[in-house]
Amino acid sequence: MNMDPIIRVDDVHKTFFTHHFFSKGEKTGARCFHEKRRVHAVKGVEFGIQRGEIFGLLGPNGAGKTTLVKMLSGLVRPTSGHVYVDGLDVDRQRLKVLRKIGVVLEGTRTSIWPLTPLENLAYFGNLKDVSGKVLKKRSHELLDFIGLSDKKDVQVRRLSRGQKQKLAICIALVADPDVILLDEPTTGLDVQSARSIKDRIIEMTRERNKTALVTTHDMGVAQELCDRIGIIKNGELAACKPTDELLDLFSEQVYELRLDRMPPDGTLGSIEGVLDVNFEAQGDEVLCVAAIEHEYALRSEALYAMLARLRERGVQLHSVSLRQQNLENVFLRVTGDPAS
Ligand SMILES: Nc1ncnc2c1ncn2[C@@H]1O[C@H](COP(=O)(O)OP(=O)(O)O)[C@@H](O)[C@H]1O
Ligand SMILES: [Mg+2]
Repeated sequence: MNMDPIIRVDDVHKTFFTHHFFSKGEKTGARCFHEKRRVHAVKGVEFGIQRGEIFGLLGPNGAGKTTLVKMLSGLVRPTSGHVYVDGLDVDRQRLKVLRKIGVVLEGTRTSIWPLTPLENLAYFGNLKDVSGKVLKKRSHELLDFIGLSDKKDVQVRRLSRGQKQKLAICIALVADPDVILLDEPTTGLDVQSARSIKDRIIEMTRERNKTALVTTHDMGVAQELCDRIGIIKNGELAACKPTDELLDLFSEQVYELRLDRMPPDGTLGSIEGVLDVNFEAQGDEVLCVAAIEHEYALRSEALYAMLARLRERGVQLHSVSLRQQNLENVFLRVTGDPAS
């Protein structure tokens, strides 16, 4: 099995220049340079994606996700650094690379609206050198796979946003690429369409051995879909790890203790291994949220000590549970957002 990453992004930078002009005097009417602004959209990003993997690029709007997808598909040239697909430099061997990838860019204008889904697949298939019986068979299979068969003869302009997005995915898959790049594939879709698209992305990689790069600003989508996640902010990759390791990154564990009453002040003060404790009255109960050191032995001692102190003060314990770490929390910590 080939263990080289199928996608490699190697120290890539992208700087955009935006020019603002203004007209100079009514007589000449000449347009004159006014201001040149530089946007450093991607700053030294490096990562690799293995075959069969779903890799997520997670980051807020303006982080540089779409720019990276465009660089991988040869639509935007890196200012410096290189991007490789299956060992081919995207900048130098663009045509060969395009045969290996399918791209779904943000938005719904990726298909031709006066045509039907079948006609769109025929058109884009031909553009990508797929034709005849192979194209016909594949078009029907793809529409079936994505759940759009019943709309195959309806003009695209009459389809819902979710259905248009499904068609865009079929178009990206029409030449049977090894890699599919999906820019915000579920943004703006209803829960059901988003669910079905997420399921198809998983099926594609697990059963059809495709590799997927998915960009999203939605933590839930990233956590649910991706084997590995790169967190990007202001053009920089702040973290890049398997999803479960990312969730373990902040190694304290948060426990919730339900108590019958508010313990006296200082009951849980200065216990080794207890990092933070907060209390909140909830109906007849008091919820105690305690952040505890991850390290095994310390954690165990800290928990015993907390329970012993509560018992000493005559506080009854209704329940103890471990709160699941979520990606949102990790994201805020990694990106150093003040909200953390
Ligand atoms: N063609 C362009 N010209 C100038 N600036 C651009 C261009 N494309 C993107 N940018 C800027 O680059 C940054 C990253 O944009 P983008 O990659 O679209 O972010 P994301 O997809 O993560 O929301 C933003 O500040 C954006 O305004
Ligand atoms: Mg974008």
